[in-house]
Amino acid sequence: MSSPSQDALIAAARSARMHAYAPYSGFRVGAALRSASGVIYTGCNIENASYGATVCAERVAIASMVANGDSQWTHLAVFTDVDPPVNPCGLCLQVLVEFAADGEIFLAGPSNVTSSTLHALLPSPFAFDSARGSSP
Ligand code: THU
Repeated sequence: MSSPSQDALIAAARSARMHAYAPYSGFRVGAALRSASGVIYTGCNIENASYGATVCAERVAIASMVANGDSQWTHLAVFTDVDPPVNPCGLCLQVLVEFAADGEIFLAGPSNVTSSTLHALLPSPFAFDSARGSSP
C-alpha cells in the first residue's frame, strides 16, 4: 500500500530521471531523497566519455542534499524504466550509509514498486574506525 509521501518521492525521482545524461549506456536513472528535515533532494545519472567519471543518480542526490546543508536522509526513491526495478549499486549504498544508519528505499519501474531498506541491501557496510587503524 503506497502513501501520499511515498508517491511524491517516487514522482520526484521519475521527473529527475528526465534530466539524466546517459548517452553511453542509454540507461536513465532518477533518484529522490527525503531528508530528516523533510526536504526532497533529487539527482540523475551523469555519464562521461571517460566512463569511470560517471556519477550515479543516488550520489548526485546525496551531493545535492549535503550541498544544501542537510546531512541525514530517511527515505530514497530510485526510478528506472525496467521492471522489476533494479537495486542501487554497491558504491551508492556505501555513500548512502554515510548519511543514514538505515533508511527506507523505494525501487520503482514503469509498473512496479518494491520497497527495501538500506540495512537489507547493505547489511555490513565498511566503517572507518580510527581506533582500529594500523600504523605502517
Ligand atoms: N546507475 C545509477 O545511476 N545508479 C545505480 O545505482 C546504478 C547505475 C547508472 C550509472 C550509469 O550511468 C548507468 O546507470 C549504467 O550503469
